[in-house]
Amino acid sequence: MEEQTKAQARWAVESLLARRTRGMRGSDIRDAFKLTERPDLISLAGGFPDEAAFPLDEVAGLIERLLAREGGRVFQYGPTEGSSELRSRVAEGMGRLGVAVPPEEVLLTSGSQQALDLIGRVLLDPGDVVLVESPGYVGGLSAFAAYEAQLVGVEMDREGLIPEDLERQLLRLRREGARVKLLYTVPTFQNPTGACLPAERRAALLDLAAEYGFLIVEDDPYREICFGSPPPPPLAATGAGRVLYLGSFSKVFLPGLRVGWVAGPAELIARLSLAKQPADLCSSLFGQKLVEAYLAEGRLAPRTAVLREEYRVKCEALHEALRAEDLPIEWERPGGGFFLWVTLPEGGDARRLLETARREGVAFVPGEAFHVTAGGGRRSLRLAYSQSSPERLREAAARLGRAIRAHLSEKAGIFPAPVKWVDTPLHPARGAAAQ
Ligand SMILES: Cc1ncc(COP(=O)(O)O)c(C=O)c1O
Repeated sequence: MEEQTKAQARWAVESLLARRTRGMRGSDIRDAFKLTERPDLISLAGGFPDEAAFPLDEVAGLIERLLAREGGRVFQYGPTEGSSELRSRVAEGMGRLGVAVPPEEVLLTSGSQQALDLIGRVLLDPGDVVLVESPGYVGGLSAFAAYEAQLVGVEMDREGLIPEDLERQLLRLRREGARVKLLYTVPTFQNPTGACLPAERRAALLDLAAEYGFLIVEDDPYREICFGSPPPPPLAATGAGRVLYLGSFSKVFLPGLRVGWVAGPAELIARLSLAKQPADLCSSLFGQKLVEAYLAEGRLAPRTAVLREEYRVKCEALHEALRAEDLPIEWERPGGGFFLWVTLPEGGDARRLLETARREGVAFVPGEAFHVTAGGGRRSLRLAYSQSSPERLREAAARLGRAIRAHLSEKAGIFPAPVKWVDTPLHPARGAAAQ
């Protein structure tokens, strides 16, 4: 009886859903997060910042001083656009990256994820084309898919998005009469591949945006997690008027505060701000004030230097441990960020590998989760090194090694070949943080 009632309720809900939500599905990544609850399992699935590195003592002091100074005001509703002091500081930080932007053209959001949603809300009609990296960041793909955009994947190689493929797609879409509104890219230490787009390719993307009349959404949360020489300047530095730039304090401070921003052309920022009012009235003022105090006390730059070194050591540990396994797989050693993207030999299947890997006690996200075309990324897997200690990463590589060998030996015609990997030259980490 109870079952019947539940079934009826499910039916009623289904029939009430808006068209745009009917196709929504949970991501493989979310499923993979559940696995982190198993203590014996080493999860390289969720790309969270390292909780052990959160500066809790510093934060306790900051909160105390903040409350003494501002009292209850920090828990009040704030302006929809965000605290004006923090907007100014973000604008200054962007200036140091070569992006000249006044504070009025910075909208603070609940993490950069909210900016992705607002962009979809303000710019996308059903059927509009959004060009996306293939593979691309799942949170961005799902934000745009939620507004019924047509997502078109653009190919990537070890350096990131391939401008020639972008142009091919643009020509084809123009012939088909499709309306291309956005290109969504994470050009710097990309999620999921770790790739960093060279300056010439950045220039080529901007040229294409001008020629074909679309806007670039540049999502840049990993820029500061850089292991060697600094990445090229943001697209927004030379693409004024054509780029919406998304930044975040999640990777360099505390993700749970949910403080990010979007900067771009004044008219668009005004629209995004209008769309933000019904979404949340205002994002957490407390979080913004805390970030503001962190910046004002000059704590971010030294902290970022520590984080860079910490993540570099983790990346190195996983890279070296995988090399030592001598597996017939390929990957790129990233110059920054949280992720290592691995490709299995012909015939490999990351989803099936995951089953074996779980039994061995290690998890990752299969590459298909990051693709908009069926079958894309079947041979790929994303390994996040951000959360585990170097020791755990070495153990994870050993478990993965056993799982990959077992997976490949199940498959006829695949014989271990020498390991292939590409080294990104490392240079001393740069001194100053951008914001
Ligand atoms: C590429 C990319 N964009 C946006 C986000 C969301 O970040 P935030 O915490 O600022 O919402 C993430 C988080 O992992 C990310 O990897």
